[in-house]
Amino acid sequence: MKIDGKAVVITGAGSGIGAALARRMAKMGAQVCVGDLNADAAKSVAAEIGGHGFACDVRDEAQVQNLIAQATKALGSIDIYVSNAGIGRGEPSHAASADNDVWMLNWQVHVMAHVYASRALLPMMIERGSGHLVNVASAAGLLNQIGDAAYSATKHAAVSFAESLAITHGADGIGVSVVCPQYVATPLLGLSDADASDRASLLTADDVAAAVTNGVEADQFLILSHPVVKDYTQQRAQDHERWITGMQMLRAKAQEHFGDAAATTLYKLV
Ligand SMILES: NC(=O)c1ccc[n+]([C@@H]2O[C@H](COP(=O)([O-])OP(=O)(O)OC[C@H]3O[C@@H](n4cnc5c(N)ncnc54)[C@H](O)[C@@H]3O)[C@@H](O)[C@H]2O)c1
Repeated sequence: MKIDGKAVVITGAGSGIGAALARRMAKMGAQVCVGDLNADAAKSVAAEIGGHGFACDVRDEAQVQNLIAQATKALGSIDIYVSNAGIGRGEPSHAASADNDVWMLNWQVHVMAHVYASRALLPMMIERGSGHLVNVASAAGLLNQIGDAAYSATKHAAVSFAESLAITHGADGIGVSVVCPQYVATPLLGLSDADASDRASLLTADDVAAAVTNGVEADQFLILSHPVVKDYTQQRAQDHERWITGMQMLRAKAQEHFGDAAATTLYKLV
């Protein structure tokens, strides 16, 4: 779907990838509504791009419906909805050690938020025979995030839900994209653009935003901002045993170098 002239909603756009995408889409001629748990951040990004900013906690279906209602009132029918909000909490020790609240938080933000948005938008999009849903998952949804089982499991679910959307609604004229970046220098990892300058494995939020707009305009389902992720997924599919061994070795190397295997440092080893 061409972005110029389109009405766009982006969640979690008060920061990082969502904010970069809001700026880029606005520059490309879209009218953008910014939603975020952090209302001030949403309004500040919106003010910068001449858009609209709204507080929205995507864990709450009523708030997602309200965001869509407010955006529709401001812009008219929504053409492109980007479910981007995300969190990364890591795990205290073993793979099941994050408490139930953290597992549920991951489930609500990474999966149910996508379901709530699709549930609200699909009837209207099906009626119009047009619309594009963009779900920001992660390379962890195709591979795995060492040190965060809840993140990995829910991002896999996000990829699967996006596949269901694409399979079910392609014939309705609805485009679906799932975005699976590897490491990106954003507050989620405690990083900024300066950290990304000398590492191919760590992109900036602007790099990912460019990959997303290219992918949406090309009606691409799987948007891989880091091309190496395609190689890793193929290696995993070809020989799962070998892939697990490789990941175990990577985890051991991270622990040896950094004393843990957190996402905030792992990018230095890939
Ligand atoms: N940074 C990375 O390395 C990386 C890699 C792969 C995928 N991703 C995914 O990209 C997306 C954006 O992450 P980012 O790196 O830009 O992080 P970020 O922390 O910079 O931005 C995330 C935004 O989501 C908002 N948010 C969190 N919980 C929310 C909620 N319940 N309701 C509404 N908004 C909420 C935050 O306030 C924040 O503004 C996430 O889905 C993340 O999982 C990030």
